Amino acid sequence: MGIVLIWCLAVIVIRWITSERRGAISYDSSDQTALYIRMLGDVRVRSRAGFETERRGSHPYIDFRIFHSNSEIEVSVSARNVRRLLSFQRYLRSSRFFRGITAPNSSNILDDDYNGQAKCMLEKVGNWNFDIFLFDRLTNGNSLVSLTFHLFNLHGLIEHFQLDTMKLRRFLVMVQEDYHSQNPYHNAVHAADVTQAMHCYLKEPKLSKSLTPWDVLLSLIAAATHDLDHPGVNQPFLIKTNHYLATLYKNTSVLENHHWRSAVGLLRESGLFAHMSLENRQLMESQIGDLILATDISQQNEYLSMFRSHLDRGDLCLENANHRHFILQMALKCADICNPCRTWELSKQWSEKVTEEFFHQGDIEKKYHLGVSPLCDRQTETIANIQIGFMTYLVEPLFGEWARFSNTRLSQTMLGHLGLNKASWKGVQREQCGSGDDADPAFEEMDSDILPQEPRLS
Ligand SMILES: *[C@@H]1O[C@H](CO)[C@@H](O)[C@H](O)[C@H]1NC(C)=O
Ligand SMILES: *[C@@H]1O[C@H](CO)[C@@H](O)[C@H](O)[C@H]1NC(C)=O
Ligand SMILES: [Zn+2]
Repeated sequence: MGIVLIWCLAVIVIRWITSERRGAISYDSSDQTALYIRMLGDVRVRSRAGFETERRGSHPYIDFRIFHSNSEIEVSVSARNVRRLLSFQRYLRSSRFFRGITAPNSSNILDDDYNGQAKCMLEKVGNWNFDIFLFDRLTNGNSLVSLTFHLFNLHGLIEHFQLDTMKLRRFLVMVQEDYHSQNPYHNAVHAADVTQAMHCYLKEPKLSKSLTPWDVLLSLIAAATHDLDHPGVNQPFLIKTNHYLATLYKNTSVLENHHWRSAVGLLRESGLFAHMSLENRQLMESQIGDLILATDISQQNEYLSMFRSHLDRGDLCLENANHRHFILQMALKCADICNPCRTWELSKQWSEKVTEEFFHQGDIEKKYHLGVSPLCDRQTETIANIQIGFMTYLVEPLFGEWARFSNTRLSQTMLGHLGLNKASWKGVQREQCGSGDDADPAFEEMDSDILPQEPRLS
């Protein structure tokens, strides 16, 4: 049967990184493809892959200081710098607030610095209807920092691991900044949403009674960083344009490896865990990698069949650390693609955003004759078709198994929304073409042997 969704080539997890070519982008300047990628590169396809020695300041941000002195604003601002400058506003905004320029007092920061409504929302952070878009507006675009900091507090991680709250905040600000706010979908709000969903899953009885603080710590960090520095295009795009990340990671889980290594770079740079033993820090880095790499959607069938056989055999034992970590991988996978399991109002917004990102990629592929990736052609695709295929082949199977593992009210709620949302998209589809096909043919044509290059839908 066409299990279909093999979204790209996927194989061996490459765990090692060379330190070459960091920050550099290698193309042949005569090549049109390269031309675009250089443009894209400016939009921040920049690597932190060789983080061993790379420092944050080495990125081509505009120097912070020019904002403070009018006389220096003359610094020539090319068109391309303007774009950086614009995104830098956000950096500046969050920096003042979070980096201590106003000398935040860690004991009262949650009380004084958040506006009342955002704080009020955080009291319901474990609610499945949590509106992350509203929360992001109320925090002035700082949802990822605010939410994750709050969850660290709530789970007692700051105390348990003796974390320095200023370092924690700085780490989270760096994480938030390294998401691309210009991506319609893969931005810091998506990361905040996934982190919120992960928190909901961690609270499920089966998990909450067996998880250690260490597990919770890794889960939240992995959720917050799982798409770090996402370029807004998918792996096939990076491969066909010879992006250096594709070379670096040998065409395998290219984005996920990059997210992970970027996260590790920020962890080290922040010194958040500098007080822990080297052994523990290394263990943390590798376990965060296991979690983030599990979000590679092209690996979904492997994870799903493992999950299914455990459930069939009934042999999952959450006292066993390996089993716990496997379940956390499944939980993060669920959190990553849970959009269709939210209420229609939230779910619909996510659908529009992800489609916008796909179509944007398709437009570029057309313009530069790169061959339009499946699901990326705005001429032939619709949001409804894409969503119905996504739900049928990816989301329903995953959440079906999750509900077998954790048969709770939350799981029933999620399946309920999933069913309703699918019905709504089918209604839209019927209106649009009168045919009422079940799913996008792009999904059905996929054959797992051929492994078509597919966009990542997470
Ligand atoms: C932090 O704020 C609390 C409450 O406003 C205050 O009692 C405490 O003295 C402050 N600590 C510092 C170091 O300023
Ligand atoms: C990655 O894919 C490209 C395009 O298919 C191919 O040319 C290249 O050799 C591949 N690299 C590796 C390491 O497999
Ligand atoms: Zn994601």
